[in-house]
Amino acid sequence: MTLESPHPATQTPSPTPKAPARPAPGNRVYNFTAGPATFPLEVMEQVREDLHDYGGLGAGIAEISHRSQEFKDIIEEGEALLHELMDIPDDYRVLFCHGGGQLQFSMVPLNLIGLKPARKALYVDSGSFASRAADIATRYGYVHVPAHSRETDYDRVPKLDAEILHQDASYLHITSNNTAMGTCWRDIPHTGPLPLVADMTSEILSRVVDVRRFGLIYAGAQKNLGPSGLAMVILRKELLGHSLPGTPQLLDYTSLASDRHSMGNTPSTLSIYMMLLILRWVKEKGGVSAMEKTNAEKAALLYRVIDGSGFYRGFALPGHRSPMNVTFDLPDAALCARFVAEALEAGLYGLAGHRARGGVRASIYNAMPMGGPALLAEFMTAFERANG
Ligand SMILES: Cc1ncc(COP(=O)(O)O)c(C=O)c1O
Repeated sequence: MTLESPHPATQTPSPTPKAPARPAPGNRVYNFTAGPATFPLEVMEQVREDLHDYGGLGAGIAEISHRSQEFKDIIEEGEALLHELMDIPDDYRVLFCHGGGQLQFSMVPLNLIGLKPARKALYVDSGSFASRAADIATRYGYVHVPAHSRETDYDRVPKLDAEILHQDASYLHITSNNTAMGTCWRDIPHTGPLPLVADMTSEILSRVVDVRRFGLIYAGAQKNLGPSGLAMVILRKELLGHSLPGTPQLLDYTSLASDRHSMGNTPSTLSIYMMLLILRWVKEKGGVSAMEKTNAEKAALLYRVIDGSGFYRGFALPGHRSPMNVTFDLPDAALCARFVAEALEAGLYGLAGHRARGGVRASIYNAMPMGGPALLAEFMTAFERANG
């Protein structure tokens, strides 16, 4: 079947041959949800032990004080590993915040829009989270959207011309990986002296980036870093000290940075511990460059099936495709629903697309083993043979 001849409603669909039984390790499914997302199995097993008794203390990791030496060691190792894995220079600070990715949509303008007297920020609109970030920033100053890809339903990231980089702007914000649409900035734009701010929620630690190119990077933890609710911020120290009057203390980077471990209040200790285990896991697997290589191989397995098929239609333009979130459509909504349901029976969980876009989305973050996309690619081929 081709895209031009949609599946007729009256035709009885033939059952998709079952994919060969190759379940995910640890009696689990392959979990393709966009976040909260799958963790490395080794991390889950370690957490299970430590929840009961952390390091022989007789108390679990979620039960010990954030002021204890044990937790201090955890947060210090976490910060040091982030510096090492991302090659974060000394003139940058790492902060841990509450409120996930979206609280940063407020924290960034609260702290940075006052950098210049015009109180103006540039937001590139490349998808649902990018436009939400821009909307929220309008509460704190003047927001200009210099480029967007709305007209093509966000199937690409927009082109940025140098002349849009207004000199009176405080920063330019991009969403480096658009989770719902499955697009990403393969090349990070150059913004010269204008601080570049990036929401890296759905790609942090998945590819090598030069932190020096950014004034600030933030990420909700729930894809590649840890449990939801925690957010990590990396910012150039010289950007501190410009928060708007009335900025709540816990939302003020300068106030958080005044504590060595960003403890404006009790941090999310369990989440930070789980993040540490994930960072250790990334290091053990060869670091961010090794993640990038494996992620490219995993994504290629799926994009290859899409490109070789007249049945599946990739959503993102080639050249703008995300290695983290692979989005595609089937000839009609009924087939799409069947695809998601039958995939689940085959042990492939969480493939329904984001509500802003529909279709299918396979999120294949760092912790997704190669077996997941390999099995999904086989399933896609079998499903097309049975229904195409
Ligand atoms: C790119 C991006 N930014 C922000 C968010 C919002 O994160 P949170 O739900 O933690 O607020 C998400 C959530 O998936 C996301 O993908």
